Amino acid sequence: MIAQLAALVMSLLAAFSVSLNTLAADLSPSGYLILVNRDYRLQSSYMPDDLVYPNVKHSSSAYQMRADAAAALEELFAAAKEEAGYTLYAHSGFRSYETQRNIYDRKIKNTRNLNQARLLVADPGCSEHQLGLAMDVKNSPDGSLNSAFGKTKEGIWLAENAWRFGFIIRYKEEWTDVTTYAYEPWHIRYVGKAHAAVLQELDIPLEQYVELLRSLAADAYIEGD
Ligand code: DAL
Ligand code: ZN
Repeated sequence: MIAQLAALVMSLLAAFSVSLNTLAADLSPSGYLILVNRDYRLQSSYMPDDLVYPNVKHSSSAYQMRADAAAALEELFAAAKEEAGYTLYAHSGFRSYETQRNIYDRKIKNTRNLNQARLLVADPGCSEHQLGLAMDVKNSPDGSLNSAFGKTKEGIWLAENAWRFGFIIRYKEEWTDVTTYAYEPWHIRYVGKAHAAVLQELDIPLEQYVELLRSLAADAYIEGD
């Protein structure tokens, strides 16, 4: 099963001319496949050095992303408008460690339930927002971020098309056991076009994909007998 999956991934990646060398770069700390979760934390001082404001409609002032992700977001939002007539709003992009800590503390205070709060908001250091590669997307400037977004026409369009621009829906409903977060149809994560296309095909969480790629990349350096 694993061998079959590995063979499928290698053939899909080859179609995008992704080599093992490229993979190693993608998986590196500055690459777009960097995995951040409760097991892989960022230092409190980490901050990307290529943050920009994408030229898109937005519903807050905190919508910076790393430059390539921002350019991809501009393409994604433009396609939503041109192809489907939908207006999307960038709501929350890069968040510093301190900002994440404030959001986390506020959620604990509001829910009065640590486990519930941790399903919804990442502990400081564990959020992809600190990478500058995630964006929370809304379909109206004043709408709230909740699971109902996934059933809206904009949410459905996003889930079906984000991959074409290098983004994945990071926290699907059926992946909570793996991701440790509740369903977030509004949270998109930039991984680049090739990996987003492969992930759309495989339909597995980023945790499993990265684990698979790490073992593929490691195998390439181990000689068989
Ligand atoms: N809501 C997501 C998990 C975050 O806080 O990064
Ligand atoms: Zn988010």
